[in-house]
Amino acid sequence: MTDIQIQAKDLSKVYVRGSEKIIAVNKITLEVDKGDFVSFIGPSGSGKTTLLHLLGCLDDPTSGELSIEGRTVVSDGKSLPESKLSPLRRKLFGYIFQKFYLIPTLTVKENILLPFAFHRKPGLAMTANEVAERLGLSKRLAHLPKELSGGEMQRVAIARAIINRPRILLADEPTGNLDSKRSEEISEILSDLNRSDGLTIILVTHNPKLATKAHRIIELQDGRII
Ligand SMILES: Nc1ncnc2c1ncn2[C@@H]1O[C@H](COP(=O)(O)OP(=O)(O)OP(=O)(O)O)[C@@H](O)[C@H]1O
Ligand SMILES: [Mg+2]
Repeated sequence: MTDIQIQAKDLSKVYVRGSEKIIAVNKITLEVDKGDFVSFIGPSGSGKTTLLHLLGCLDDPTSGELSIEGRTVVSDGKSLPESKLSPLRRKLFGYIFQKFYLIPTLTVKENILLPFAFHRKPGLAMTANEVAERLGLSKRLAHLPKELSGGEMQRVAIARAIINRPRILLADEPTGNLDSKRSEEISEILSDLNRSDGLTIILVTHNPKLATKAHRIIELQDGRII
């Protein structure tokens, strides 16, 4: 039995703009084990977001191989069709972004429950109350996003990302819009999800404190691991 959950080989993403070719991700080979906590760091434009999106099946690579939990997702640069990718995303991944992306007209509870509009994992999904309790949002369920602090908004986004109990949590600069106290809270929550729930976490961060919570820090430069 192998514990390898994500296996990428020579994964590349090239953007073409007119005569310009930008190699955003350049032949990256990488393995992530179940329960791993990996942090990508590197300068702006080094390919962190692009790589995270490739690993999370949110974007198609230009070339390379990718398999997740033994399932081939990209073979010889060719991704599975969308009809196969979207159920895979729903089953495996939770996503968190720097800008939270809460729906302003929905309450906290409705935002947290949004994934159920598409899919509810039978026997696995948490209830809104459970996940709110876990993230310290119980008293905020009836509020609108504009009535929350930045840290609370990000906790709502995390609640929404984990309500269906994903196996892999991807986070792009989850503390990028937060002050140091709120950042610390979010770091603790992510650490706890990794430690207590065995959730695999892959994140991008400029925050050194958050990066050091990871088991592994991977530095990117010009689309390569250095
Ligand atoms: N849709 C796109 N079209 C063209 N070029 C792109 C596109 N998305 C990203 N790039 C380019 O690919 C490179 C890597 O971008 P990426 O967003 O992955 O960097 P990053 O490391 O996440 O940077 P940051 O720290 O600023 O978020 C950059 O040169 C960027 O300009
Ligand atoms: Mg980025």
